[in-house]
Amino acid sequence: MTKWPQGFQLILSSRMHVKKAIFPVAGLGTRFLPATKAQPKEMLPVVDKPLIQYAVEEAYAAGVREMIFVTGRHKRPIEDHFDMTFELEVALEQAGKQELLDVVRSVKPDDMECVYVRQAQALGLGHAVLCGQRLIGNEPFAVLLADDLMVGTPPVLAQMVEQYGEWRASILAVQEVPPEQTRRYGIVAGTPVNDRVVDITRIVGKPAPEDAPSRLGVAGRYILTPGVFHEIATQPRGVGGEIQLTDGIAALLRREKVFAYRYEGKRYDCGSKEGFLQANVELALQHPVLGADFRQFLRGLEL
Ligand code: G1P
Repeated sequence: MTKWPQGFQLILSSRMHVKKAIFPVAGLGTRFLPATKAQPKEMLPVVDKPLIQYAVEEAYAAGVREMIFVTGRHKRPIEDHFDMTFELEVALEQAGKQELLDVVRSVKPDDMECVYVRQAQALGLGHAVLCGQRLIGNEPFAVLLADDLMVGTPPVLAQMVEQYGEWRASILAVQEVPPEQTRRYGIVAGTPVNDRVVDITRIVGKPAPEDAPSRLGVAGRYILTPGVFHEIATQPRGVGGEIQLTDGIAALLRREKVFAYRYEGKRYDCGSKEGFLQANVELALQHPVLGADFRQFLRGLEL
């Protein structure tokens, strides 16, 4: 687990409002075939950690302790990753490889709980979130899409938990997107509250540039109030016959305030090969052990 400054942890623990997070991980990952033929896309490594671990670490750093994975067939490696690996730990212990043992054990700290629920049919992101309803109950929760690797200090979800503490309403992470990319995102519009926060009045799922109400695109981090479950459950099927989270949030807007938060940090779209490669290069450059040599290597490339 990444260690954050002591003071930061203290601020979080005094405001720990968001204790549970949903990780929708049932997707097929067809964009990364053949790499994802027999392996979940969430297990693809960026430098030395699988994508899902980055998202889980971000949630943990934000004070979340109950991780709810909405899984599907062929996703067992995710469960195994966050489980104890007894033989490996014994082998490392016997070999006196304490550092590696610490790395292995740090994947799941003792105070973190992992729960798995199956999404039997791929009926969309809204449906995936709905699969977590019973485990969430009546409290605010986070949703993290592991495809979006977020790098921020403090981590992006922690920034959002801070915002939740202030507004006590649903918060969506947003960033400016170029007009030609509005089709990839939920796009929000509303009234600015301050430099970073917008009081949302509209949200549209993946609009064409000419239909987009703004250029503020939703990134894969949400804090939602439990009222969203009822809204998702009562939505007709949306785009592609799927139950869309965006449609549920659009309905929630009629009953509750929903804010957009321009996060501080960088997002890598690891759902695309370009973003995945960018994340690998940039995180390798920042890596405490590999970084310096890797920089040298890149410099030596004839580009
Ligand atoms: C999902 C959401 C979309 C959001 C995006 C962020 O789309 O439906 O609203 O903007 O994540 O990554 P997906 O990337 O699953 O197609």
